Amino acid sequence: MAVLVTGGAGYIGSVTVEQLSSKGEQVVVLDDLFRGHRPAISPGIPFYQGRAGDRELLKRILREHHIEACVHFAALAYVGESVEQPAKYFENNVEQGVALITTLLAAGVRRIVFSSTCATYGEPEKTPIAEDTPQWPTNPYGWTKLVIERMLASLDRAHSLKFVALRYFNAAGASEHSGEYHEPESHLVPNVLRAASGEIPVLSVFGKSYPTPDGTAIRDYVHVCDLADAHILSLERLRAGGTSDFINLGTGRGYSVMEVIECGRKVTGRAVPIRIEPPRPGDPARLVADASKAARVLGWKPTKSDLATILRSQWEWRQRNPRGYAA
Ligand SMILES: NC(=O)c1ccc[n+]([C@@H]2O[C@H](COP(=O)([O-])OP(=O)(O)OC[C@H]3O[C@@H](n4cnc5c(N)ncnc54)[C@H](O)[C@@H]3O)[C@@H](O)[C@H]2O)c1
Repeated sequence: MAVLVTGGAGYIGSVTVEQLSSKGEQVVVLDDLFRGHRPAISPGIPFYQGRAGDRELLKRILREHHIEACVHFAALAYVGESVEQPAKYFENNVEQGVALITTLLAAGVRRIVFSSTCATYGEPEKTPIAEDTPQWPTNPYGWTKLVIERMLASLDRAHSLKFVALRYFNAAGASEHSGEYHEPESHLVPNVLRAASGEIPVLSVFGKSYPTPDGTAIRDYVHVCDLADAHILSLERLRAGGTSDFINLGTGRGYSVMEVIECGRKVTGRAVPIRIEPPRPGDPARLVADASKAARVLGWKPTKSDLATILRSQWEWRQRNPRGYAA
């Protein structure tokens, strides 16, 4: 019995593959490597390069492995890019997702753990954000994730497909082997460290007049290893016959952009030059999770998600891998 991990060569996927394997799980990875890295996957793990919704390839994988569940990470995940190229996002995240999930269902695979996002909430009226907060995304990326959430719920009603949709807040940090390395990079933590190391001359801070104590946007950061744990707990819940659910993955504690930068300065002992820029459209002031459901339903307890541990782990990974995954 094996778990199919789509997007397993990406940032969160590769850490989850690492943790699943270390628990003795059989894992099969499907990734088109558009944003992922082949070296992020251990050579012993069966790897298929292709699109998540390639039905022929999926049938081949289903013939060659006894797939019992799927963790579906594969997606494009940049808010700004989705605003500029919405069709690309709907094709990749929705069309490919529909093809993947319906092909798996037709083959009798009825357990899905899906990477959703706090971006499905849009601009919430109050924080912390609980799972029953009305969802109205402010960008195409968020809509693509919400569409798949709704499809999963419909497939559960019609065909008893069981799923856990995990709404991550901000993933950050690194495991021993895998860290965050994107080209282009739009996430704050790796960019703070790139500025600290001189790889970029200056860090852009988008918006300094938000209604927050220091005027910069506040986000809830979760260590990637804690996120990976939540996927394993979700699989276990589904295998034990648990019902489908939507679950936030955050810590309930938010940090402003300036607080992350200050922590980056302390962890690295280096200067982080910044430049204030206008806020990005569709970027809410404050996104902080009510994380109580994950603890209640999954028994999830983040252990590495304090900000200094997050930054230190990514900094150390960078020091060991200054060129990311390049040989
Ligand atoms: N990083 C975050 O903070 C965050 C927050 C909320 C949700 N998410 C979601 O988590 C998932 C993983 O995010 P990440 O940060 O690891 O991103 P990532 O870009 O590092 O990983 C995504 C992986 O999926 C692959 N991929 C994309 N589209 C594909 C397709 N159609 N077929 C096959 N492979 C495809 C890419 O090559 C890449 O390896 C995504 O679904 C993302 O939307 C991430």
